[in-house]
Amino acid sequence: MIEFKNASMKYKTNGVVALDNVNVTINDGEFVFIVGASGAGKSSFLNVIMGQEKIDSGYVRVGPYRMHNIKKRDLPYLRRMLGIVFQDFRLIPKMTVYDNVAFALRVIGMSEKKIRRRVKYVLKLVDLTDKTDNFPNQLSTGEKQRVAIARALVNNPGVIIADEPTGNLDPVLSGEIMSLFDKINSLGATVVVVTHDLELVRQFDHRVVTIESGKIVSDIPSRTAELVSAIVPSAANSQEENDG
Ligand SMILES: Nc1ncnc2c1ncn2[C@@H]1O[C@H](COP(=O)(O)OP(=O)(O)OP(=O)(O)O)[C@@H](O)[C@H]1O
Ligand SMILES: [Mg+2]
Repeated sequence: MIEFKNASMKYKTNGVVALDNVNVTINDGEFVFIVGASGAGKSSFLNVIMGQEKIDSGYVRVGPYRMHNIKKRDLPYLRRMLGIVFQDFRLIPKMTVYDNVAFALRVIGMSEKKIRRRVKYVLKLVDLTDKTDNFPNQLSTGEKQRVAIARALVNNPGVIIADEPTGNLDPVLSGEIMSLFDKINSLGATVVVVTHDLELVRQFDHRVVTIESGKIVSDIPSRTAELVSAIVPSAANSQEENDG
């Protein structure tokens, strides 16, 4: 579970308040879209979840970790729970597509045989099999984006966090990648996707959280969840109890 309670965060370098009293709970197995204008605080929200920025007040919990006082030695374990697609990809220029994706598995000491199987599988999922031996500077932007997605998925993480994962893809590929996240979600992973693409958001039935100037200004459940809570009021109540 990911839980924010009255959480605020200010960047020390320029004093910008990026998160302002944020309250939100993302339950295990949920799929949540985070939307909002450029500069609204979407990436900052993700930065707090992945332990890249610390909140100044309030409370944030990610799985078993309380993020305001997470120990440095716990960060690798937190990151292992999370599959992260960064907005700027963060591929390693000197490594091939294969090695970029295999890297995280080598760090955790998986056997090369198992690594080969996993990497092949995820590269096929994102339709990059023919680019396995390319270096990042030999790829289009959309292809780099798909390497970043493959790398996030390769470790089978319980939580996928993706910052504009389809920002550089055409509509067909965007739809396919989002369907892939959908499938991973239906297999049990929690998925948090930041996107500008409201058309894509409309195509999927998921919760939509809108951030504006660091504040959550709306939080709309998926149509299915809304329907269920209308038919079974106790489901809505237990949800509120969880939140409160
Ligand atoms: N590393 C940083 N240091 C200082 N200020 C930052 C930093 N990163 C972001 N900001 C500021 O914090 C605010 C929120 O930025 P953030 O990157 O979270 O927005 P965003 O919603 O992800 O925007 P975009 O859609 O353009 O990616 C903005 O005012 C931004 O200028
Ligand atoms: Mg951003």
